[in-house]
Amino acid sequence: MSVIPPASTPRHVAIIMDGNGRWAEQRRRPRLVGHRAGARAVRDTIEFCIDRGVEALTLFAFSSENWGRPQEEVSGLMRLFLSVLDREVDELARRGARIRFIGEAQAFSPDIQKRMQATEALTAANTGLTLVIAANYGGRQDIATAARQLATEARDGRIDPATIDETAFGDRMALADLPAVDLCIRTGGDLRISNFLLWQLAYAELWFTPTLWPDMDAATLQAAFDDFSRRQRRFGLTGAQASRQQA
Ligand code: IPE
Ligand code: IPE
Ligand code: MG
Repeated sequence: MSVIPPASTPRHVAIIMDGNGRWAEQRRRPRLVGHRAGARAVRDTIEFCIDRGVEALTLFAFSSENWGRPQEEVSGLMRLFLSVLDREVDELARRGARIRFIGEAQAFSPDIQKRMQATEALTAANTGLTLVIAANYGGRQDIATAARQLATEARDGRIDPATIDETAFGDRMALADLPAVDLCIRTGGDLRISNFLLWQLAYAELWFTPTLWPDMDAATLQAAFDDFSRRQRRFGLTGAQASRQQA
């Protein structure tokens, strides 16, 4: 019996798109040039995932900690966010993508919030790739929000605290209605999660590459997918049990 599972495509891919700043610095250009180049890589990555039949793609666009960057970079990122939404949403909608945002939207300008809501409304009924943009997202914030919600429901008598388990908790976290994250990719060479999906990555396969995000291309994504298809996911079981389940 082979311990190598059959080739499989991840149903849900999550990506920490890192390295835009260094890409620009290597070219002696302002960091924002790197972010703009990163937007191109986003388009190619979405394309790749649609072609491969991936069901959900979650992209880490802006973390709850990224507000601490120089004002000029933050406002440049906000402008870029708006122009990408303007430019890309119609085409993505046409291709059947359903676009959603996770993270605390209230922190964004009314302009951006309006655009985010319009994008979600426009694509809500689509049945192709679910594209999730994590904007002002933090994994700890996500967990704290679920805890607050459970506490409120318990206070109001809508849930019995004795019944709070992993399912009740998970149901109140971001991405609850999507397949579990199978593969999490981080570009830019650092080996860390940086407060991305802490709860949701529990059994995701992690894949790291030194490639800087603006250089992300189909060959690198294919390498990640190939590597994923060769991994044995055991979920705590023995290798023999896992291969019986996968057979
Ligand atoms: C990722 O690239 C994009 C955002 C965090 C918004 P960085 O801007 O973090 O690029 P590096 O890590 O400084 O190279
Ligand atoms: C993670 O990258 C956040 C995004 C890609 C949006 P960072 O550049 O913020 O992460 P650290 O600071 O290197 O951990
Ligand atoms: Mg970075």
